Amino acid sequence: MIDAGSPRTSIRRRLLAFLIVSLLLAVSAAAVVTYRVALSAANDAYDRSLLDPVFDIADNVVVDASGAHVDLPQKALEALVFDQVDKVMYQVRSANNALVSGVDDLPAAPNLAPGEHRFFDATYQGAPIRVAALRARNGSVVQVGETRHKRNRLVGEILVAELVPTTLIALGAVALAWLGVTRGLRPLEHLRTELLERSPRDLRPIPEGVAPVEVAPVVTAFNQLLDHLRDANVMQQRFLANAAHQLRTPLAGLQMHLELLLRRELPPEVRRELERMHTATVRASRLATQLLALAKAESAPELSKEFKAVDLRTIASAAARDWAPKAMAQDIDLGFSLAPALLAGDPMLLPQMLDNLIDNALRYTPAGGTVTVTTGSEDGAPYLCVEDTGPGIPAAETSKVRERFYRIAGTPGEGSGLGLAIVQEVVDRHGGVLEIDARGELPGTRIRISFPPPPVGDLHA
Ligand SMILES: Nc1ncnc2c1ncn2[C@@H]1O[C@H](COP(=O)(O)OP(=O)(O)OP(=O)(O)O)[C@@H](O)[C@H]1O
Ligand SMILES: [Mg+2]
Repeated sequence: MIDAGSPRTSIRRRLLAFLIVSLLLAVSAAAVVTYRVALSAANDAYDRSLLDPVFDIADNVVVDASGAHVDLPQKALEALVFDQVDKVMYQVRSANNALVSGVDDLPAAPNLAPGEHRFFDATYQGAPIRVAALRARNGSVVQVGETRHKRNRLVGEILVAELVPTTLIALGAVALAWLGVTRGLRPLEHLRTELLERSPRDLRPIPEGVAPVEVAPVVTAFNQLLDHLRDANVMQQRFLANAAHQLRTPLAGLQMHLELLLRRELPPEVRRELERMHTATVRASRLATQLLALAKAESAPELSKEFKAVDLRTIASAAARDWAPKAMAQDIDLGFSLAPALLAGDPMLLPQMLDNLIDNALRYTPAGGTVTVTTGSEDGAPYLCVEDTGPGIPAAETSKVRERFYRIAGTPGEGSGLGLAIVQEVVDRHGGVLEIDARGELPGTRIRISFPPPPVGDLHA
């Protein structure tokens, strides 16, 4: 089950979050390691030059009867410990730890054996320093310390040289991942378009190739669902068609018996009641016919494989014969202007479509009006047009009248509102376009249906 309450997850966001966190950790680890390596490299580089003055001074420490002293002029000593960048200080203590020369506040040297030297980190007057210490053979201790400016600069340079490219590579990786995910998800966009562009009735399976392998299980599951829906639809249509068909036979019998009865000599009240029954039966019978037509028109699209070459002109000529008596009885001038209009279509559904259009035109056009049926072909596309001089269909209603069981309020006469729904269904089945509009300045309705041009040479009549 899908939990609608949980926040929606995004593959892209998850992937990028994972990548960014991992890269941040990797870059931080690299920074720590680089810092340590850089520090030891800087110490290696500068410790040697820090040790030189230590030896030079130690070589000049003389111990005699008056005690230890440094046998160098002050100027020479200062030159020994001079540095351009760092502050350097020295200290010489005798074997019994008395200050012989230099500053007295350098941190104490570690315990050293004679001849041994050592480097260590310390602070001097609040600043971090590096110290080199040596115990001379005569027991005196020489220490030289320097501030860390040179070393810090070198560490900084190494860090920048190492981390800038690493960080750039990490950023590049995130950008590439973003692009990659966007590109990778593009097939889903195709899938989305494919689904959005479908008509709600189109239950054909989604082509598996549309989706990337990773979402193929979703597509397969969805196609299974579509399969079930299709089956359910077919069952429903079959049921509707069967029910309508089963109803038609007894209704036709009932109508025939009522008509036979009405031919007899009858008391006026009985005749009135029987006539009402007859009207209701005719209406029920028409409803059953309309339902059957609707069920057939919307049945499985596989039907379109059985399309045959059909000429709308032939269908309209047959309709002319069928509808002439009714038109005459209603004093309506029913005219036909027929040119060949060949299409690949269903020879049962197309006449039902035209019958519904003519039925509406004759039914809603007042006596003395005109109904014209035109067929022909425009730029290779066959069309059919039914025009009347009746009340017309208001522009606001032209899409609603195509719905099932919809009748414009105040429409006279009996009707179930299925006629135009059947027409729309047949038009859809044939990939045609149904236009319902007014006849320009003239009163009345104009219904025009155009079909796609017939496939050349592919019609099996
Ligand atoms: N030629 C027309 N002129 C004026 N109004 C029309 C015309 N055709 C259809 N309509 C309007 O559209 C509505 C829907 O028509 P539709 O054919 O679907 O149903 P119906 O004619 O009422 O019933 P049914 O055709 O199922 O017996 C009609 O009730 C009517 O109001
Ligand atoms: Mg109708």
